[in-house]
Amino acid sequence: MAALALISKIGEHDGKEVELRGWLYNKRSSGRIHFLELRDGTGFIQCVVVKGEVSDEDFEAAGRLTQESSLRLTGTVRADARAKGGYEITVKSVRPFQIAQDYPITPKEHGVDFLMDNRHLWIRHKRQHAILSIRHEVIAAAQQYLNDNGFLRVDSPILTPAACEGTTTLFETEYFEEKAYLSQSGQLYNEADAMAFGKVYCFGPTFRAEKSKTRRHLIEFWMLEPEMAWCDQEENQRVQEELVSYIVAKVLEKRKAELAVIERDITKLEDIKPPFPRLSYDDAIDILKEAGREISWGDDFGAPDETLISERFTRPVFVTNYPTSMKAFYMQPEPGRPEVVKCADLLAPEGYGEIIGGSERIWDPKLMEERMKQHSLSEEAYGWYMQLRKFGTVPHSGFGIGIERTVAWITGSEHIREMIPFPRLLYRLRP
Ligand code: 4AD
Ligand code: MG
Repeated sequence: MAALALISKIGEHDGKEVELRGWLYNKRSSGRIHFLELRDGTGFIQCVVVKGEVSDEDFEAAGRLTQESSLRLTGTVRADARAKGGYEITVKSVRPFQIAQDYPITPKEHGVDFLMDNRHLWIRHKRQHAILSIRHEVIAAAQQYLNDNGFLRVDSPILTPAACEGTTTLFETEYFEEKAYLSQSGQLYNEADAMAFGKVYCFGPTFRAEKSKTRRHLIEFWMLEPEMAWCDQEENQRVQEELVSYIVAKVLEKRKAELAVIERDITKLEDIKPPFPRLSYDDAIDILKEAGREISWGDDFGAPDETLISERFTRPVFVTNYPTSMKAFYMQPEPGRPEVVKCADLLAPEGYGEIIGGSERIWDPKLMEERMKQHSLSEEAYGWYMQLRKFGTVPHSGFGIGIERTVAWITGSEHIREMIPFPRLLYRLRP
């Protein structure tokens, strides 16, 4: 009896007979041989069907298989240095389950819109499989690092009565008799959780109704947000550089094959280790001016500015101390320099730009009250948040790492839309 096997673990069955269940990815035939490239969700493998070595009926069945037909087969696992993945299958029997008709994504080139319309099928393809497997590893590694370092996962709600990151990018929805908004960030709740549990993180989808159609913007993206009580911005950045280095190391360790499929230059990832360089916003502005960009102190960076800065470093770079006027209401001012805040954006190298936003939070009740007035934040919506500053306030800091931006950088991808199974973009809600 052939044991049921997975392609990703096929090496455990070297020389033995196995059963595989999957879908036909590709087929080449000569008169006497069918080369079936089978995928089973865990990987891809070549299965060789030779006339005379299987029944005539099975040889004919293999010939009828079309792209994405579902099937079961049995065969012997053979180590083969020339094969991708190091093994191939010498087939003994072939059992089609369904012969697929007119699969729309053929091996020829297709336009992006066509592929996006067929995203529910496109995710079956090799490059997408590799990217989404790496996405899994990024998430698993990030949680592993935090779990191993004393963080408790305490999640934040998605339906909220108030904004965290400004009111311009809010998705509004009805909440029975009142209005609610989809969460832009779990941070405000995270701060309450940090006062209850010390070191926490939340992880989930976040939403920004941003009218940006760029290769870096999703409308719905996944963010992992750690928050730490008794923590200043220095310590916050130390955690960030350790976390990012850990994620990259885990992807290099566990997803070599996938990085090879997408032809990632991994030498660029091998040097991602603490410490990461630090650059003040002031110095970043000077660099941009010298490079001929039209920008003045107080302006936010556009994508081309971030690209220009991050291209100068081989490791991710912290840009620190942004102008207070540009950043969210909750950030702690720099002592002696109230025009800038204790914050940092982490820009990924190779021109990828911001992957993390973080800061030290205002702990002082008086200052927080002032800020809430300046930003017209109502007592009704933010009163509970204010109470965190009244009942045992402490210095605390945290950050949010955007999963898809991180995956785009690690995979060296052109566009963020392939970094999530079903992207929500400015002009795309389907499938
Ligand atoms: O810099 P942001 O807006 O920071 C916050 O939301 C903080 N409240 C986080 C915190 O301190 N707990 O967003 C954090 C990260 C960005 O660095 C980026 O990686 C990602 O979220 N991000 C996006 N990713 C894809 N599409 C978008 N439209 C994104 N907006 C932000
Ligand atoms: Mg930001």
